Amino acid sequence: MSDKVAYTRHDNIAVLTIKNPPVNALSQAVRQGLMDQMDHAEADTGVDAVVIVGDGRAFIAGADITEFGKPPMAPSLPDVVDRIEASPLLVIAAMHGVSLGGGLEVAMGCHYRIAVPSARIGLPEVHLGLIPGAGGTQRLPRLIGVAAALDVMTTGRQVGASEALEMGVIDTIKDGNPLENGLSFAAELLEGKASRRPVSEMPAPEGIDWDAAYEATLVRGRGQISPAQCVRAVQASVERPFAEGMLTERQIFMELLKSDQSKGMIHAFFSERAVGHLPELKGVAPRVIEHIGVIGGGTMGAGIATAALLSGLRVSLLEMTAQAGEAAHARISGNLSGALKRGKITPEQHDTILSQALRVITDYQGLADVDLVIEAVFEDMSVKKQVFTQLDAVCKQGAILATNTSYLDVDEIAAATSRPQDVIGLHFFSPAHVMKLLEIVVADKTAIDVVATGFELGKRLKKINVRAGVCDGFIGNRILATYRSASDQMILEGASPYAIDAALEAFGFAMGPYAVADLAGLDIGWAVRKRKRAELGVEGARTYADKLCEAGHFGQKTGKGYYDYAAGLKARVPNPDVLELIAQERSETGITPIEFTAAQIVRRYMAAMVNEAAKVVGEGVARRPLDVDMTLLFGYGFPRYHGGPLKWADIVGLPDLLADIEECAKQDPAFWEPAPLLKELVAAGKTFDDLNKAG
Ligand code: CAA
Repeated sequence: MSDKVAYTRHDNIAVLTIKNPPVNALSQAVRQGLMDQMDHAEADTGVDAVVIVGDGRAFIAGADITEFGKPPMAPSLPDVVDRIEASPLLVIAAMHGVSLGGGLEVAMGCHYRIAVPSARIGLPEVHLGLIPGAGGTQRLPRLIGVAAALDVMTTGRQVGASEALEMGVIDTIKDGNPLENGLSFAAELLEGKASRRPVSEMPAPEGIDWDAAYEATLVRGRGQISPAQCVRAVQASVERPFAEGMLTERQIFMELLKSDQSKGMIHAFFSERAVGHLPELKGVAPRVIEHIGVIGGGTMGAGIATAALLSGLRVSLLEMTAQAGEAAHARISGNLSGALKRGKITPEQHDTILSQALRVITDYQGLADVDLVIEAVFEDMSVKKQVFTQLDAVCKQGAILATNTSYLDVDEIAAATSRPQDVIGLHFFSPAHVMKLLEIVVADKTAIDVVATGFELGKRLKKINVRAGVCDGFIGNRILATYRSASDQMILEGASPYAIDAALEAFGFAMGPYAVADLAGLDIGWAVRKRKRAELGVEGARTYADKLCEAGHFGQKTGKGYYDYAAGLKARVPNPDVLELIAQERSETGITPIEFTAAQIVRRYMAAMVNEAAKVVGEGVARRPLDVDMTLLFGYGFPRYHGGPLKWADIVGLPDLLADIEECAKQDPAFWEPAPLLKELVAAGKTFDDLNKAG
C-alpha cells in the first residue's frame, strides 16, 4: 500500500493524512493511497466519518505537474474525487496552507470543508494553460454560482479563507491545528446527525450570456485560450446533467493538455523556479546584507530603494545635492504610499520605514558602513568609474559594490576599484519596485559568495533572478536591440509600425514595440543614436525616427510619437506624419515597399529574437535557454503562454526557423548570421529544452 497517505483511527473517525512533501501534489501514489485508504475506512467497523488532512505546509497544491505530458496512470484524479464523494461515510476536508487545483477539487469531493484562517484556495489551472480537470468546473459553480466560479477559475487567483467562506466554498473557519479542527468538526456533524452532502447532487446554478462571457474572457486573456474554455466547461455545468458536464470538462482538459499554450505555460512554471537555482551556488554562504546604499534617486534609484525598504532592509540613498535628495525622498515616499494603498504594508510599517529605515545623504562618507551599494547614476563609463573609485575609497572591506548599468562593461567598471572580486552587476528594470526581473551580471573576477549574495538579495526583493555574463546589453537588452533592429528594417522594407504593433499584440504582447517606444520616450533612443554617430564621426545619416524627434515628438510625454494621443493615452491613433516620413526615407534609399502579412511580421521578429538568444546561450552569457526565456517573460512582456522565445522556437520547430534565418541572411549576411548553437541543435536533431534538461 502507498505510504503517501497514512491511515489513523480516532474513535469513530478515520483520518487520511497526505504525506507528499513539499506541497502534497497529487502524484499517482497519492491518488492510489486515497483510493486504498477510503476502502480501508469503509471496511473498518465502527468508522462513521473520514477526515482528509495534509501533512506539512499545505492541504494539497494540486495535480502533480511533473506527470503532465506522460502517459496517464490510474487511478485518475476525477475517479479519486468521485470515489471520495460517493462514500457512504461523512467525509470532511480539513484545510490549511494551499488547496489548489486538484487539491480544491479533492476538497469539493468531500461533503464538508473546514479551514484555518490562513488557508488559501484556488483553481490556478489557467496559469498552466489548462482548465480544472477533476470536476472543478462542475462542482464550484454548484457551490458558489456561475459568476464567482468564473472569477476564481479564469483569474486563477488564490482566495483567502474568509473570502472563501463568504463565497460558500468552505463551511467554517477555525484557528488551530487542522487535524484537531477536522476531528472536532466531524464529531459535531455526527452529533447533529448531518447527512452526506455531495456537491454533484446540488442543483445547477443560473446561466448567463455564455457567448458574451466567452468573448470577453478571450479578449482579457490576450489570446490565451484556457480562461475562455473555462466558460464553456462551466456552461456545461449549467446546461447538462453532472455526468455529461464532467465529460465536457474532460474533453476540453485533454485537448488543452496537448496544446502549445499549455506546453509553454508549464515550461514557464518550472523555469520560473529553476532559474534561480545555480549548481555552483550550492553550499556557498552569502554575505550578510542588512543595510544597503543606493546612489542616485531618479526613477530607477528610488525604485530600487523602495524595493529594498519593502523587503525590510535599511537604505542610505546618496544624492548630489540636498534639493535632489528631497526629490528622491518624495519619489520613494510616493512609491511607499502606493504600496500602502495596495495593502502591501500597514500604516505603521509605512511610517517606520520613512522615519527609521530610509536615510537620504549627500556625502559618500555616509556609505562607509553599508553592506552593499548599488549605483543607479547616468549611463556613462567615465561617470561610473568615478563613482566606483569613490566607493572603493569609502566602503568597508567586504562590502559589495554593484552597478545597475544596463549595457556597460562590468569588468571595466570593476577594474576602477582595488577589489574587483566584490563588484557585480545588479540590473533592475524600471519601475524597480514593480518589475520582477533582476539580471545578476557576473564579471570575470566576481567572487562566488558575491554572486550568492546577489541571488539572496534578489530573492529577498521577490525578484526573478537570472544570471548573466558580461556583454553589451547582457541577456535582455542585447536580444532586444537585435529584434528591434529587425523590426525597424521591416518598416523600411514596407511594413507599417502599426501593422507590426498589431501583429505582435495579436501574438500576445501587451503592447507592440512602437507603442512601447512611445511610452518609454523616443528621445532616449534619439540621444543614443546621436551619441553613437558622434563617436563614429558620421554625420547626416538621419532616419525617419530622428526627424520625428527633431519635430519635437517624443511619444506619450509630448502627446505625439508613432501615435497621436490627442484623444487620450488609451485611444491611440496612428500619427500620419510618421508614414510620410517613412515613405520619404524609402524613396530616398530606393526601396520599393513590399507587403508583410501579420504572420510574416511575427515570424521575422521572432526569428531575430531566437537567433540572438541562441548566440547569447552559445556564448555562455546566459547559462541555459530557460534563463533567456525567463528574462524575456519577466522583463520584456513576452507572452507567458508561449513559454519564452526559445520554448516557442522548440514548439514551432528549429529546422524551419533556421531555414528562415538563412533566407534572411541572403539579404543581410552580417545581421542574420545564423547562431552556431542553432545550427548545432538542428544538425543533432535536438531542441533548446534538451539543453535545459542537461542542466
Ligand atoms: N506539482 C509538482 N510539483 C509542484 C507542484 C505541483 N502541483 N506545486 C509545487 N511544486 C514543486 C515546485 O516545483 C517546487 O519544486 P522545487 O523546490 O524542486 O523547485 C516545490 O514544489 C515548492 O514549490 P514553490 O517553490 O513554488 O513553493 P511556494 O511555497 O513558493 O509555493 C505553491 C507553493 C503555492 C503550491 C506553488 O508551488 C504553486 O502555485 N504550485 C502550483 C499549483 C498549481 O498550479 N496547482 C494546479 C495543478 S493543475 C491541476 O490540479 C489540474 C487538475 O485539475 C487535475
